[in-house]
Amino acid sequence: MVSKLPIFSALFSLAFAKPMARSMKVREARESLPAGYVRTGAAAVDTELQLRIALVQNNPEGLIDALYDVSTPTSSSYGQHLSKEEVEKFVAPAAQTSETVNAWLDQAGVNATPISPAGDWLSITVPVGQANELFDADFAVYTHSETGKQTIRTMSYSIPSELEGHIDLVHPTITFPSSISLRPVVSTPSGLERRGIDPLASCSTSAVTPACVQSLYGIPATKATQSSNQLGVSGFIEQFANQADLTTFLNTLRPDLKGATFALQTLDGGSNPQSGSEAGIEANLDIQYTVGVASGVPVTFISVGENFNDGDLDGFLDIINFLLGESNPPQVLTTSYGNNENEISRSLANNLCNAYAQLGARGTSILFASGDGGVSGSQSQSCSKFVPTFPSGCPFMTSVGATQLTSSSGGETAASFSSGGFSNYFGTPSYQATAVSSYLSSLGSTDNGKFNTSGRAYPDVAAIGVNVEIVVNGQAETVDGTSCASPIFASTIALINDALIAAGKSPLGFLNPFLYANPGAFNDITSGDNAGCNTNGFPAGKGWDPVTGLGTPNFAALKAAAGV
Ligand SMILES: *[C@@H]1O[C@H](CO)[C@@H](O)[C@H](O)[C@H]1NC(C)=O
Repeated sequence: MVSKLPIFSALFSLAFAKPMARSMKVREARESLPAGYVRTGAAAVDTELQLRIALVQNNPEGLIDALYDVSTPTSSSYGQHLSKEEVEKFVAPAAQTSETVNAWLDQAGVNATPISPAGDWLSITVPVGQANELFDADFAVYTHSETGKQTIRTMSYSIPSELEGHIDLVHPTITFPSSISLRPVVSTPSGLERRGIDPLASCSTSAVTPACVQSLYGIPATKATQSSNQLGVSGFIEQFANQADLTTFLNTLRPDLKGATFALQTLDGGSNPQSGSEAGIEANLDIQYTVGVASGVPVTFISVGENFNDGDLDGFLDIINFLLGESNPPQVLTTSYGNNENEISRSLANNLCNAYAQLGARGTSILFASGDGGVSGSQSQSCSKFVPTFPSGCPFMTSVGATQLTSSSGGETAASFSSGGFSNYFGTPSYQATAVSSYLSSLGSTDNGKFNTSGRAYPDVAAIGVNVEIVVNGQAETVDGTSCASPIFASTIALINDALIAAGKSPLGFLNPFLYANPGAFNDITSGDNAGCNTNGFPAGKGWDPVTGLGTPNFAALKAAAGV
């Protein structure tokens, strides 16, 4: 009898713990597994999980108001970007939030480390068993049937009801690593064309070079002069940017920039090894079409390592918090990676989008490639409804679609892979409301029911993205993708910032209110469409459209609109 006592007390304490479960509130849940995943078993209770807790920020609405104040050309505070401290005042959790959450973790014997400059993100390391208790979760092993990749996730998690209003989200929990996410948004439909370097002075439909980009958009070859002007290029998934390839590229295609280099920043154990065989197509493309187009602008390659790569969005969180921690973040940041929006939890998407707003308020223009699957998302896939991409659905960044040449004389049409459409997570921001509603009325009933007419619409702008010539491991090849378009558009903005800074003015910062207020500063792309999901997708047309946005840059007009 006596020997049963401990068992009885164990049962009793389990039962005793139950009432606590009743005070738990589900914070996030997913209804079904993402495509490709199967549950392959329970996770060992002693496996350590590194979890991040996002605390509720004290004034996110105030931050968005401040962002629009400094980014809307008609506002009296236009260009008066916020300091790091001013942004952190909005973002920092209220004292009560930090105290309540820390007290709860302390009681559980869990150590929390702040991992964002404003203290709104905490990191904890807990074994699976304790994570299940803390969050009323069921962390289990899920395996991706194609890649075999195993990951520990839960279908839902809860927080104690007294922490509602204090904890925003916990990650990684219900957001699964995607088999396609964070792949470079670059596609080579006809395979890579290996070829000799073609130092074409003018454009051809089979090879687009920096000189071609300059002539298409009127981008000057004159070197920028301002050393405080920075153009940041994000690097993920061990895509490395090779200096020798950049040198070969410049020697042939921009001999006037001979000797130009880029700086390196690393985080999460990132690196940038220089052996030719490790040169990444995406990283080389991004570096060659920033250094090679934004003549003379200091370019930094920011290599995010794989220390936290189990959840692929961790790299996105880390790079943005890393830049938010800098006193002088780059004035332009271009990223050619992305996910499908539906793979990311709403709370995580919202948190990241808010982080872009923070950096935008500081004066950084954030550009992302829109994706290469047309209306079917970041890569082509089968679908019945259109698949929006992330972060293009976030209203506080600039999404860049792609075009292609129609002839060597320079006409452009939409690239058929150019992702565009409407977010299901974020509503239409006012800066694009008129442009979008006029597109929707001209669209009529086409694609009716396949997309969300009240969502944030993207892309915002476009640039050339087909048959773009790059050098990888000493060899020239051409690549296609919105991955080409984002660095090109980013370079255009970086050159305008150079002129603004030289004139003692503020850089452009968060671009969209300025861009939509100046539709005349673009070459309107009116033909082509972005097929996908067994449809022709959206047709490009006069004015803004969800394939090429407002169009491709007219450098002189954009510069004039910026007042320099
Ligand atoms: C459509 O977009 C709106 C605005 O973001 C959102 O509230 C709504 O949930 C979306 N609808 C669907 C079906 O996703």
